[in-house]
Amino acid sequence: MEFYEAVSKRRTVREFKTDPVPRESVRRALAAGLRAPCNAHLKNWRFILLRDREKRAWAVSQGLKARDMKDREEIERFVATFADEELKSVYRRSLPVQLTMMLEAPELLIVCYKMKSLTDCRGFFDLNPLASAWMCIENIMLALAAEGLFGCTYTPYEERGLKKFLGVPAGYEIAAVIPFGFPIKEPEEGIPENLNARLSVDGWGNPAVF
Ligand SMILES: Cc1cc2nc3c(=O)[nH]c(=O)nc-3n(C[C@H](O)[C@H](O)[C@H](O)COP(=O)(O)O)c2cc1C
Repeated sequence: MEFYEAVSKRRTVREFKTDPVPRESVRRALAAGLRAPCNAHLKNWRFILLRDREKRAWAVSQGLKARDMKDREEIERFVATFADEELKSVYRRSLPVQLTMMLEAPELLIVCYKMKSLTDCRGFFDLNPLASAWMCIENIMLALAAEGLFGCTYTPYEERGLKKFLGVPAGYEIAAVIPFGFPIKEPEEGIPENLNARLSVDGWGNPAVF
């Protein structure tokens, strides 16, 4: 798939066919992740594929404490905190399947990165290992899209149980837990972004037209 096609096709998908994912596609996507730029040439990243169904069920429900929010009133209470209608609709669609998407996806990828403790971070610069991990993740998501595969970058609220369960060594953190597979239905094309509204030249707010 051509690069810009993969970029525009990539969407977050939370419902998957049961079809297995070709191993070669997984290998290519993870190798693409390792091509991402990183701070200080470090690439302190590790990938874990959680394939064993029993282990996975325990890891995501007990370890990660992921849950499907099914109760409509609870969902509405949650989305009431946001003003933006688009954001509300993302949450209405995604909250009910946060656990299910991880249980049912043919593959579940956990991306780990090396990071010093947040209490030792003096500023945004010290968050570069996290930024680099997300460059790696985006390469993976784009490569998956090029393979016709899609997923969801779930970011843990509570990752300690999962780290312990997987034996993630001290010093490593979990950037994202990513269920992926072939989508149950073709993902919709995203709304084209208005670049001109975000781009200025030579200073904030100087309009630029491309
Ligand atoms: C840093 C980050 C964290 C995210 N966390 C979650 C999450 O915990 N659960 C979820 O369902 N989606 C999560 N998403 C997916 C976003 O909801 C999704 O990317 C966004 O709505 C834009 O939609 P798109 O990816 O289809 O363009 C996350 C995405 C990013 C980049």
